[in-house]
Amino acid sequence: MNAASEAASGAAVRVRVPATSANLGPGFDAFGLALSLYDELTVTPGGSGVTVEVDGAGAGEVALDESHLVVRAIRAGLESLGASIPGFTLRCQNRIPHGRGLGSSSAAIVGGIAAAYGLTGTPLDRDRVVALAHDLEGHPDNVAAAALGGFTIAWTEGPAGRAIRLEPVEGLAAVAYVPDTRVLTKEARGLLPSAVPHADAAANAGRSALLVAALTARPELLLTATEDRLHQDYREPAMPESLALVRKLRGIGLPAIISGAGPTVLVLTHPTRPSADPGSTTQIPGPAPDGWSRYELEIDPVGVQVWSGDAS
Ligand SMILES: Nc1ncnc2c1ncn2[C@@H]1O[C@H](COP(=O)(O)OP(=O)(O)OP(=O)(O)O)[C@@H](O)[C@H]1O
Ligand SMILES: [Mg+2]
Repeated sequence: MNAASEAASGAAVRVRVPATSANLGPGFDAFGLALSLYDELTVTPGGSGVTVEVDGAGAGEVALDESHLVVRAIRAGLESLGASIPGFTLRCQNRIPHGRGLGSSSAAIVGGIAAAYGLTGTPLDRDRVVALAHDLEGHPDNVAAAALGGFTIAWTEGPAGRAIRLEPVEGLAAVAYVPDTRVLTKEARGLLPSAVPHADAAANAGRSALLVAALTARPELLLTATEDRLHQDYREPAMPESLALVRKLRGIGLPAIISGAGPTVLVLTHPTRPSADPGSTTQIPGPAPDGWSRYELEIDPVGVQVWSGDAS
């Protein structure tokens, strides 16, 4: 039985895919962290077209036809595996908020591609998932963390998206402050200058190298290591309240950053006291500002997961 006919045999596939935070301060377009907030998909092959049901984030907003991002990713995944399925039902239970900098588009894309692997009975090839998801998303940082879990460093080689996974230091966790308002990634990218001062570029190169050490072994350096001079301040006009919150939290010694293209603010936490503020008693990020949501998150260790043959 080839992949296509196997796929059409009717077994449902279930997928769980994590939210992700990209950049992490200085690691612009390269660093990603997988977080314990998940979208869940169930795909049941059958019929001749697609039926899409969405619960949670994006319900009533996203398209429910072939243009739905998960459907497009399933189709692209099937094509890359040499398979095709004329019709299926897709059920989405979405917990990752849209347009907030927590990687909802990457979760949709990586989740859809992983579903294609499940539908065809193909063992997940995570590096191939990263490469294809990068083609659909246009940048590799979030898709890398959604596909590989943990802490990821992504890059492009020619047109190809690639990534490695590093093990986050034990005890690393995060608090996300998510405002009501959205910022579209495209809009936030439009605020960046085409050139930056050499000194800023040099500072970011050093800080991003330090951040690899801080995230994997030296969490007491997180505050210093998350300093950024390449993108966060430039985006202030699109998210002034987020930048104000980042400064306030950093001012009391907490390693706060803009998550992805914003406007979510992410604070990295660890039982070790941040070294830059040895006098502070503040270690737990406080309550969310009015109108914002606060999520206490762990680091997702494995990235996207797929189960076949059980639609429950
Ligand atoms: N689960 C989903 N199903 C369908 N479409 C989705 C889904 N998640 C995201 N999208 C599409 O992607 C858009 C959000 O993408 P965008 O890249 O702007 O934000 P984000 O991915 O949430 O944040 P960031 O890329 O900064 O981490 C949504 O408005 C919607 O069109
Ligand atoms: Mg996105």
